[in-house]
Amino acid sequence: MEKDILFVSNWKMNLNCDEELDFASSNYDKFIEFAEKNKNTIILCPSFLNLYPLIKIFKETKIKIGAQDCSKHSKGSFTSQICAESLSLLGCKYCIIGHSESIKENKYTTDDILQKFSQLINYKISPIVCIGESIKEYENGTTIDIIIKKLEKFFNIINSNIIIPEYLPVCLAYEPLWAIGTGKTPTQDQLETTFAYIFEKTQKFCPQVKWKLLYGGSVNSKNIKKMKEIKNINGFLIGSASLNFQEFEKIVEL
Ligand code: PGA
Repeated sequence: MEKDILFVSNWKMNLNCDEELDFASSNYDKFIEFAEKNKNTIILCPSFLNLYPLIKIFKETKIKIGAQDCSKHSKGSFTSQICAESLSLLGCKYCIIGHSESIKENKYTTDDILQKFSQLINYKISPIVCIGESIKEYENGTTIDIIIKKLEKFFNIINSNIIIPEYLPVCLAYEPLWAIGTGKTPTQDQLETTFAYIFEKTQKFCPQVKWKLLYGGSVNSKNIKKMKEIKNINGFLIGSASLNFQEFEKIVEL
């Protein structure tokens, strides 16, 4: 299949800094090969500590490096925070925001995520915005309502005060909270419906944006083939399976 697919590899905090470097260097040739093939985009998201080393390792290759979060502030007395400007100076091209694990840990509000979004756009870093419903919301059949609510807020700020360069991809990762790290995924029909819906809304309200629609949550070599068939999916946000190289290879190749 000749589709331009984004594979975002979210390493979370699963490896220590030495292990991350080992993983990247020992699979260097294969990563490059994946990125050359079929117009794939491979984005590796290590811990903050290894952003710069990985950017250096993969310099002048097609592999892109992404951060797992950024500050909502531009600069100032914000102990422990990392600003989008620094990520951009390092050479970071993507940044995940609004991941449910980081929301839970840091008690981020939607407003915080919107501010992070603006920061990233300011510094020409592609945001990877995670949105998704809880198990309760899923069981109540309110997935689409939850997504509308979250998307509307992004559409509003995009249409009111942000200029997004035409070339900059804006990634929306639909990640049901109940699917992350559980081995469970929505059915094929549910994914078709949800992505058709997200596609329609993004085109209707912000057609000027270069949207990339991703799915995340228990993506693995067993379910990837069917998921790649879903018309409006442009890529995947992959957690644990991306740290098993054989598994990641199958996800890219199948
Ligand atoms: P998972 O994680 O693939 O391990 O479910 C996905 C994510 O958290 O982005």
